[in-house]
Amino acid sequence: MALRQIRIEGDEILRKNARIVEEITPKIKELVADMIETMYHANGVGLAAPQIGVLKRIVIIDVGEGPIVMINPEILKRSGEQEGIEGCLSVPGKSGIVKRPNYVKAQAVNLEGDVYTIEGEELLARAICHELDHLNGQLYIDIAEEMVDYDQENDQE
Ligand code: NI
Repeated sequence: MALRQIRIEGDEILRKNARIVEEITPKIKELVADMIETMYHANGVGLAAPQIGVLKRIVIIDVGEGPIVMINPEILKRSGEQEGIEGCLSVPGKSGIVKRPNYVKAQAVNLEGDVYTIEGEELLARAICHELDHLNGQLYIDIAEEMVDYDQENDQE
């Protein structure tokens, strides 16, 4: 495993569409392991592959219950609304108020190549939406209602 460099806003790669993963190869497994190590090292709760310069549809999330690996993720259902403070490892030193659905149901492929569904509320729902946006070149600052003073306690995704 190895730490990868986190790309910062302004880097073009963060604005591109990531590509579907066709097959779970050893290289993909190594990439996921590196993403997990890099996310924990940065004290993040989520990381998308484009954030380390890889245009593949892979995100990892840990909201305190262990790492969730989502390959080729898609949101199937969203409902409710929450408004809260969001941060991003690619936008250091900033945070903003963002509206998100309070509940999402998503589908993804795991490292074994199996399709699974996951349901999340509150922080998990927010993290899923935030990370999936990264795969489509979107950052939370595009949709934030207002930017607020950075607080180190904020979750960085
Ligand atoms: Ni982010």
